[in-house]
Amino acid sequence: MTTLEIISVHPTAVVDDGCSIGNGTRIWHFSHIMSDCVIGENCSIGQNVVVSPGVVLGRNVKVQNNVSIYTGVVCDDDVFLGPSMVFTNVINPRSAVVRKDQFRATYVGRGASIGANATIVCGNEIGPYAMIGAGAVVTKSVPAYALVIGNPARFAGWVSEYGHRLHFDADHRAICPESGQEYRLENDRVIRVH
Ligand SMILES: CC(C)(COP(=O)(O)OP(=O)(O)OC[C@H]1O[C@@H](n2cnc3c(N)ncnc32)[C@H](O)[C@@H]1OP(=O)(O)O)[C@@H](O)C(=O)NCCC(=O)NCCS
Repeated sequence: MTTLEIISVHPTAVVDDGCSIGNGTRIWHFSHIMSDCVIGENCSIGQNVVVSPGVVLGRNVKVQNNVSIYTGVVCDDDVFLGPSMVFTNVINPRSAVVRKDQFRATYVGRGASIGANATIVCGNEIGPYAMIGAGAVVTKSVPAYALVIGNPARFAGWVSEYGHRLHFDADHRAICPESGQEYRLENDRVIRVH
C-alpha cells in the first residue's frame, strides 16, 4: 500500500506500492516513483523523472525534468536537482554481471544544489549547501558550502545558503550580500555564525 496524503500526481505519472509521499508534493507528467520511496512534504518532481526503489527525499526537494534518482541516493531537505543531472549507483557496471548488492550510496546534504547535466559518481557525499556547477562530474565528496565545477569537479570557492559567492576577509569572515548572514572559515570549513 502507498500512503498518499494531499498530493498532486499527474494522470500520466505512476506511483508504485509502498511509497510514502508528504503533503503538498507534486509529481508531474510521465514520472515514475518506484516501490518503497519516502518523499517528504512540498517536493516537486518534474517531468520524466524516475525515482528508483527505496530512495529517500526530504522536504521541499525540487527535482527538475529528466532526472533519474537511483537506489542508494538520499537527499536531505531543500535539495535542488537541476535538469538532466545524473546520479550513478554502480562504480564498475557490466551488463552481464549483476551488481545489485553492490550499490554505493550517495548522500546530498540539506540545501545543496546540483546544476544542469552534472554527474555524481556514486559513493560520494555532497555537503550541506554545496553548489555543483552545470555539467560538473563529481568524483569526490564535496564539503559544505563549497562550489565545484568542471570535469573532474574542482573546488572553485565558497557559497552562501542563498547561493552567492563568499569572499572571506582577513578575519576569515564573510557576509552574504542577499541575506546578510555571516559566515566564518575555520580550518577549511565554512560555518554560518548568524
Ligand atoms: C558554477 C556557477 C554557479 C558559477 O556562477 P558564477 O559564480 O556567476 O561564475 P562566473 O559566471 O563568474 O564564472 C567564473 C568562471 O567559472 C567558469 N564557469 C562558470 N560556470 C562553470 C561551469 N558550470 N563549468 C565550468 N566552468 C564554469 C566561467 O567560464 C568563468 O571562467 P573564467 O574566469 O575563466 O572566465 C554557474 O556558472 C553554474 O554552473 N550554475 C548552475 C546553473 C544551473 O545548472 N542551473 C539549473 C537550474 S535552471
